[in-house]
Amino acid sequence: KKIVVLLSGNGSNLQNIIDKLHNTTLNNQHIEIVAVLSNKADAYGLQRAQNAGIKHKAIISKGISSREQYDALLSQEIDQYQPDLIVMAGFMRILSAQFIDKYPGKMLNIHPSLLPKYQGTNTHQRAIDAGDSEHGVSVHFVTEELDSGATVIQAKVPIFSEDSAEKLAERVLTQEHLIYPLAIQWFLSGRLSMVNSHALLDGLIL
Ligand code: GRF
Repeated sequence: KKIVVLLSGNGSNLQNIIDKLHNTTLNNQHIEIVAVLSNKADAYGLQRAQNAGIKHKAIISKGISSREQYDALLSQEIDQYQPDLIVMAGFMRILSAQFIDKYPGKMLNIHPSLLPKYQGTNTHQRAIDAGDSEHGVSVHFVTEELDSGATVIQAKVPIFSEDSAEKLAERVLTQEHLIYPLAIQWFLSGRLSMVNSHALLDGLIL
């Protein structure tokens, strides 16, 4: 089973997936991250891929005028690998509808909030500012509407009174590293799928 990872930054989720899933066997299926792609040439995640001997490439948007043009370049790259799953892990570009339509039910994303709360960015500070007592992270299928695809799995963390956004993000990231590999394994072993925009696990609507 082949995974392509899209990222824009540090890549701690990529590293976690490399450590836990890359070149492992699950139900006698071999799992491999076949490529790591980024929109940022300086994304440390690309270095992590290199260190792991995984093919990697920066698809830079400089000089590319339209979203559709960028997405066409990105999908051209992805399609060389014919992945079973596209894992977005801190990919900070909005993907066009026709890009997403090319991979229906085959893209997962991890978003640092308890969706449907706090779609978009700066989620930790927003939760603190709202005076929430808890926060968390969601793995969801990627659909045309940003951060709105069917949620697969969530994890919750407490918000403490003296929390900074950074401290809270750190607490959330620990949970990210627990739940993302689980969701990916469920998908690659055929237990998890998206049907009529619902997430199904072993036939149960999540
Ligand atoms: C995480 O906070 C994740 O929730 C969000 O972007 C960040 C990625 O972190 N999608 P990393 O690059 O995987 O360390």
